[in-house]
Amino acid sequence: MKKRVGIEALAIAVPRRYVDIEDLARARGVDPAKYTAGLGAREMAVNDPGEDAVALAATAAARLLKQQDVDPAKLGMLVVGTETGVDHSKPIASHVHGLLKLPRAMRSFDAQHACYGGTAGLMAAVEWIASGAGAGRSALVVCTDIARYGIKTAGEPTQGGGAVALLVSEQPDLLAMDVGLNGACTVDVYDFWRPVGRREALVDGHYSINCYLDALSGAYRGWRERALAQGLVRWGGTMPSEQLARIAYHVPFCKMARKAHTQVRLCDLEDAVGPGPNTPEAREAVAKSAASFDAQVARSLNVNARVGNVYTASLYLALTGLLDAEAATLAGQRIGLLSYGSGCCAEFYSGVVGEKAAERMARAGVEDVLARRERVSVEEYERLMGLAPDAPEALTPEPGTFRLAEIREHRRLYAGGTVA
Ligand code: CAA
Repeated sequence: MKKRVGIEALAIAVPRRYVDIEDLARARGVDPAKYTAGLGAREMAVNDPGEDAVALAATAAARLLKQQDVDPAKLGMLVVGTETGVDHSKPIASHVHGLLKLPRAMRSFDAQHACYGGTAGLMAAVEWIASGAGAGRSALVVCTDIARYGIKTAGEPTQGGGAVALLVSEQPDLLAMDVGLNGACTVDVYDFWRPVGRREALVDGHYSINCYLDALSGAYRGWRERALAQGLVRWGGTMPSEQLARIAYHVPFCKMARKAHTQVRLCDLEDAVGPGPNTPEAREAVAKSAASFDAQVARSLNVNARVGNVYTASLYLALTGLLDAEAATLAGQRIGLLSYGSGCCAEFYSGVVGEKAAERMARAGVEDVLARRERVSVEEYERLMGLAPDAPEALTPEPGTFRLAEIREHRRLYAGGTVA
């Protein structure tokens, strides 16, 4: 019998401060509706140099182990997905391993492919367990990033930061993955990139949206072909994508999930056999159905709208938002997930929500984590953006969180982690 493998539990970490997106719009002389209705944003996480990608990853991972009472001795793999690396050589995973005092007898590494790196890590963990190589052990996968485009750029309202830690095991209480059905698509493009040494990303914004939609189409069609062959979805009646209870997307900004959902529906409408809308205009009208978006996607976006883009973690913040809102309703139902990383690679996969998902999510305390944050002014946000990355402010870490304290002789030293 095939092993059941997937996500057992998750935890999130976010910077302690955020700006209200309407404050930012007013400060930039932009109609706030452009950021709220046009991009779908509400709040944007703002990190200070003490909350770097390592500190956020370690905080999320420590929170996961504590909240879910995980025995570290059962872990055999630690993967960090990130595009906010702090060193060319020493991975964030080794920092997390040390800060959490994890056992020596385990594999650890970082996975990088823009926002897809977290999913690459998750699939390495899932397939390691599914193959039997894990010999019954679990994996810790952490997605951590700081999305930074710079003040007064078009990307500014789509910044953010944070981390999501995932426990992957043979007890998939949150999501049992449909191993073997994933569809992937890779294309060599320059849509978004961050040359070595630069803190801010370079991005061809509108082109990046098209690259996302193009790669999504390839990935979704790949998944659909396998899901049809296995009889998990079918042509006739509703479209295959409508047979998924929900779909969580990579969310660089919330409006992108709407565009992505329209594209998935267009793939079904273009490929459908039998009667249906038969002009591009008619297909587009059906694809844009607000009712479908509201039913299948809208409720996954609550956390993303309050944090902003977190690159590798964005899809997993959407999964967090979805399960936090609807785990009990979705128990036993199949959902789809779409990961996108610029450069570019997309992967579409599916899984079945577990019966214990609501109980697991209650322990994650997502609303508490968000509610503990402080709203700051645009002036304070600009001050924080201007701080040198290697000179963190001397702040006491909040209980249970880590902070970069100092860089001494090119070694990063962290403080905190004491559990409240
Ligand atoms: N009221 C309501 N809506 C308004 C409005 C108003 N007053 N003014 C504008 N809008 C709408 C526009 O119609 C548009 O909506 P549609 O896309 O549905 O047409 C939306 O607000 C945005 O307006 P613009 O396209 O004019 O915005 P922009 O050019 O200033 O920038 C952006 C938008 C390109 C997304 C920019 O924020 C950006 O470059 N962001 C970073 C790149 C990014 O996130 N790319 C996503 C794909 S790549 C990826 O996914 C990887 C990753 O994580 C980076």
